[in-house]
Amino acid sequence: MRSLIDILDLSMEEIDELIATACDIIDNPDKYAESCKRKKLATLFFEPSTRTRLSFEAAMLELGGSVIGFSAANNSSAAKGESVADTVKTISCYADIIAMRHPKEGAALVAAQNASIPVINAGDGGHCHPTQTLTDLLTIYREKGRLTDLTVGLCGDLKFGRTVHSLINALSRYTGIHIVLISPEELKLPSYIKKDVLQKKGIPYTQTTDLEAAIPTLDILYMTRVQRERFFNEEDYLRLKDSYILDPKKLETAKPDLCIMHPLPRVNEISVAVDDDPRACYFKQVLCGKYARMALILKLLKEASV
Ligand code: CP
Repeated sequence: MRSLIDILDLSMEEIDELIATACDIIDNPDKYAESCKRKKLATLFFEPSTRTRLSFEAAMLELGGSVIGFSAANNSSAAKGESVADTVKTISCYADIIAMRHPKEGAALVAAQNASIPVINAGDGGHCHPTQTLTDLLTIYREKGRLTDLTVGLCGDLKFGRTVHSLINALSRYTGIHIVLISPEELKLPSYIKKDVLQKKGIPYTQTTDLEAAIPTLDILYMTRVQRERFFNEEDYLRLKDSYILDPKKLETAKPDLCIMHPLPRVNEISVAVDDDPRACYFKQVLCGKYARMALILKLLKEASV
């Protein structure tokens, strides 16, 4: 049974196909309005979410299917001690496909190993968030017309940020990518990702703590939130949370076609004054998330049926 746990579970050709399908859905939504008739998506969210859960649900509804699920661990029998394995064995009796978010790294893989229907990882702790990455790739493709030859700045919490880890893995497969890592010392990208991904694949990268110095060089600026829920120590969170705040002044030296992205939710790291800048793409990115997930649901259900 095909599931999606890590963005690298998809070949580059499959990612190209998913992007092409998502673009076709955007142009011809009526063509897909009954594609998932009588199919059910279960959204199992053991951790909070706005965009991922609701975009999955909107995606399935727009494909003509229906949705069941829960939005918090304490609304499920996990609160009584049920294992992830037993939960997904149960849900496999009720639904055709699962989207699951869980705070523990590896929980999505355990789910996929125990379910008899496809499982989509909607975020497992600090590990992976592959559908955010599909969303990000679709956004970049629609804004830039390509996924190659780009200087991409990743700014904020590069240590715990699963969206950043997944995006680096995905972009490192394309040619002409240059990565600029912008973070405080304490939130630098883990060494294993630098070694196993960037260095191994020969991707040129630079590391800096200085966002303003990096901005003029960038084609994409991917801002991230410092995630309170990943810190063991509240004092460290409070000290680091406002390390970077993107505002109109900092954008004065940016390229006119810079694409500013953020997986959201935002706290302080992008001033609301930036929202009216034509280079702000983060709400377009939210919309791309629904179309990317529609394309993925179609693909996994089609593969499960053969
Ligand atoms: N980008 C993202 O995963 O947002 P949510 O946490 O709201 O799902």
